[in-house]
Amino acid sequence: MMRTNRAGDLRAEHIGSEVALCGWVHTRRDHGGVIFIDLRDVAGLVQVVLDPGVLPLAEELRSEFCIRVEGEVKARKEGTVNPKLGTGEVEVGAGSVEILSRSETPPFQLDEYHETDEQLRLKYRYLDLRRDSMQRNLKLRHELISAIRRFFDGEGFYEIETPMLTRATPEGARDYLVPSRVHPGRFYALPQSPQLFKQLLMVAGFDRYYQIVRCFRDEDLRADRQPDFTQLDMEMSFVDQEDVLEVTERMFKSVWKEVMGVELADFPRIPYSESMERYGSDKPDIRYGLELTDLDEVFAATEARVFRSVLDDGGAIKAITVPGQGGLPRKQLDAIVDDAKALGAGGLVWVTLSSEGLRSPMDKFFSDAERKGLVETAAASEGDLVLIVADKRKNVVYKVLGGLRTRLAERFGHVPAYEPENPDYWKFAWIVDFPWFDWNEDEARWDPIHHPFTGVVEDTAPFLETDPEKVISKSYDITLNGWELASGSIRIHDRDMQSRVFKALGISDEEANEKFGFLLDAFKFGAPPHGGIAPGIDRIVALAAGETNIREVIAFPKTQTAFDPLTGAPSTVDEAQLKILHLRSTAPSPDQES
Ligand code: AMO
Repeated sequence: MMRTNRAGDLRAEHIGSEVALCGWVHTRRDHGGVIFIDLRDVAGLVQVVLDPGVLPLAEELRSEFCIRVEGEVKARKEGTVNPKLGTGEVEVGAGSVEILSRSETPPFQLDEYHETDEQLRLKYRYLDLRRDSMQRNLKLRHELISAIRRFFDGEGFYEIETPMLTRATPEGARDYLVPSRVHPGRFYALPQSPQLFKQLLMVAGFDRYYQIVRCFRDEDLRADRQPDFTQLDMEMSFVDQEDVLEVTERMFKSVWKEVMGVELADFPRIPYSESMERYGSDKPDIRYGLELTDLDEVFAATEARVFRSVLDDGGAIKAITVPGQGGLPRKQLDAIVDDAKALGAGGLVWVTLSSEGLRSPMDKFFSDAERKGLVETAAASEGDLVLIVADKRKNVVYKVLGGLRTRLAERFGHVPAYEPENPDYWKFAWIVDFPWFDWNEDEARWDPIHHPFTGVVEDTAPFLETDPEKVISKSYDITLNGWELASGSIRIHDRDMQSRVFKALGISDEEANEKFGFLLDAFKFGAPPHGGIAPGIDRIVALAAGETNIREVIAFPKTQTAFDPLTGAPSTVDEAQLKILHLRSTAPSPDQES
């Protein structure tokens, strides 16, 4: 037998037994002729004390050598017990050591990852993954996915795979395309989500479907976005919004209880408009205040030119009060103004309150009544800082103050520290009642806020033809601690309604047929009412693990430029391969590392 136990599993109950262990030399310590090794395997570390008889070989051992030891599990001597280690009560007295394979000196220290360059970590990802935190994160990922599967299996859902080589899906990002060899000039698209297939599965009668599925999107990458990522995709038939919300919320509660050991509170439901009004965002972090206040009333009669023109143009004046920061030096206030401008604001007005009264570059334009109204409405007290943004476009005000809110919260310590066992740390929320349409300024057209198959709240359907901005959708998101975790909707299953929606989007019947004809055809054959949701697995795991970048919970992720330093993907291919695919590259000689 190569091994009898896993090193990290040894406990006091094993004392006296002979074991064979395999793993890596984590550390080697030479204590005056006695050599100690921390032997590491997937279960953890155990201390191995080498018998004098094996010393000649032990001299050769170095960090990350892969070895096998045989010996007896012994109680550690009094005073040497290590309560921080699972195996801390025992050690193994090894009478034999075998080197299974040697290791070069690793390119970085496996326990000092913070100082290691990201490119280097990803180039040697298999070493990076040996580190304790990465081992913990990937095990947590496994546990969460496994609990999710158990939940859905218990609720009568079928896990069904959908194709990876398919047609473009309407999620709004760019597609990754795969050229076809046998169909010259044609391309498959990798799925941005299984959206259309899961709807077809409902038409097919599967009733309750889920899938842990890889999705692909060619979009700008951020801390919470990778080009290939994983969704927990689900869909149900004969349901309304309430049913989908109920099952999904119960799933999260069950998984959090099982894996994180925490009973989650009910998820509050926040209408989209309220979320924007209070937090300037549709993915609010509701663990802290710093909420937006509305100053339109306060300045209704203002003669200050900037505010006057904003109000006359139907815009908005809003503010955030930052408690205790009224003493910020001018330079830092200027930096906040610059932040606001970078977020899209024309400017930002700061107001500080001290024992000497109110101070602001705009002060001379305020009337006494406005000063009083501002302090009252913004609920500001002595020592506070008030940040005001005014713009004729309400969306800009939301975006700027929403963006500042999260930055200021981080900067001034409003964001709670990672405390997974504390139920109050986990602020899940449903965002509901989204508008159906979003005005695309660049293209001067209406886009769907979710996707074109999203249901319309019946009362608002008449606005499809008259005032698209008033149409409310049957879509919903889950947010957790300021991240969008999931999106979903009740779908349109009625062909007439689908036509009206396409028309409002400016999509002609021909275009709709060309793009989604197969789905529209399927709806001719008794489509059931259906709806679903898709939480992002990478985001779930990252938040559960207390990470701020989903890369930390993905075994082999890409860099911010969608490059894989480990395999060198994307790579060039030779002319012959391109020719088989009927392609010719017009790109200049590519820089592999860019
Ligand atoms: P949506 O496009 O909102 O909805 O995606 C659902 C969830 O998937 C995750 N996600 C991502 N995670 C990592 N990297 C990315 N690039 C990325 N893009 C999305 C997020 C997001 O909330 N078909 C619909 C769902 C439905 O209506 O049922 C869809 O894909 O967590």
